[in-house]
Amino acid sequence: MPQLNCPQCSQVLEPSDVTCPKCGASLAVVTLLAEQHWLGRKRGGLGTGSLRPMSVEQLVPRLGDLLLAQGYITEAQLQEALARRAQGSGSRLLGQILMEMGAVTRETLDRVIARQILELQNALLQANRTLEQNVAERTAELEMALLKLTELNQLKSNIVTNISNELHTSLTHIKSYVTLLTEGELGQLAPAQQEALSATLDAVNRLEQSLEGLIAYAASARGEMTLNLRSVRITPFVDEVLQRVRPAAEQKGLRLDRRLNITQPIFLGDEEKLFWVLLQLLNNAIKFTPQGGSVMLNVSDEGHRVRFSVQDTGIGIPADRLEEIFEDFRRLDGSTTRHYTGTGLGLALVRRIVEAHGARIHVESQEGRGSTFSFAVPASAMPSA
Ligand SMILES: Nc1ncnc2c1ncn2[C@@H]1O[C@H](COP(=O)(O)OP(=O)(O)OP(=O)(O)O)[C@@H](O)[C@H]1O
Ligand SMILES: [Mg+2]
Repeated sequence: MPQLNCPQCSQVLEPSDVTCPKCGASLAVVTLLAEQHWLGRKRGGLGTGSLRPMSVEQLVPRLGDLLLAQGYITEAQLQEALARRAQGSGSRLLGQILMEMGAVTRETLDRVIARQILELQNALLQANRTLEQNVAERTAELEMALLKLTELNQLKSNIVTNISNELHTSLTHIKSYVTLLTEGELGQLAPAQQEALSATLDAVNRLEQSLEGLIAYAASARGEMTLNLRSVRITPFVDEVLQRVRPAAEQKGLRLDRRLNITQPIFLGDEEKLFWVLLQLLNNAIKFTPQGGSVMLNVSDEGHRVRFSVQDTGIGIPADRLEEIFEDFRRLDGSTTRHYTGTGLGLALVRRIVEAHGARIHVESQEGRGSTFSFAVPASAMPSA
């Protein structure tokens, strides 16, 4: 007879043991648990989600089946034992009833149960081995997928940088000639030509801004964002940004105001990058606010920080999509009839720049009512020389 071990602590067992002499566990219960585990695996996967709770009663007929299969009892004896159990309270064990009927001896019963324990133990061992193997395989697959994704991201950002740089170089040539032409350096122009060229220059400027955004995005995606921290005077900084976006606001018939509520005139940050951030937020506010609305740039003290916020009375953003808008290339206007231009990179980069300053970008919005985007950077004591 092969050696039996307790499924819980591996103690060597005698066929007559009902509880484990070492860990004291009830052998019926641990066997039941072991079987549950094994059946869970058989039923489709090793996940505990596939396990169904099993009662002791469910195990007993299996013992009957086993006795039947091994020729210790007949079908008629099994049926009779089941019937007797059904007549009683149902709590009596089938093996006990079969013994009372004289169909099996205690010794036979112990032998069959012991054999059952052994089989379950082997199945458990096998299940554990398979589980370990599965986990190892999945881990290797995940590591490979992660490596591939990292490589792909690197590749994507390299491609974006290369193409953007190429386009930027060509655009610089176009811009210089268009500027020379508009300024009359290459000869006098008719008013219509002048108008056409200044529209061209506007478009070139917008394109240049998009390309600069793309180059900055690709660099930040590679984790190459470096900040050039300086003390910056708030009022001239804010006025310059507003001056840059005023033509677009006027063209759309929007009010553009600023409200400064500050006692600290200086903030600490990367002036160029935060200028770009405010430009993006204001451009979005203008873009997504219908004619007749207003856009406001507020700056206020917040302890030792200065909060910049851009508020509009535009189309707003649904509450459940407020997180999405900061994802790379994400635009909410996904319909085929695109009302608004853009690449969907503005806010992704805005978030990276703001977070690089140790701050968070905050957004509040109500559909049809408007949105407010804000962030706070440290106030600074001294202006940089
Ligand atoms: N002020 C706003 N009001 C309403 N929706 C906004 C506002 N700002 C951003 N969004 C929504 O968030 C999306 C993402 O903004 P983001 O600035 O990243 O991209 P974009 O403006 O579409 O393109 P890009 O800035 O790259 O030119 C926008 O397409 C728009 O759906
Ligand atoms: Mg934008």
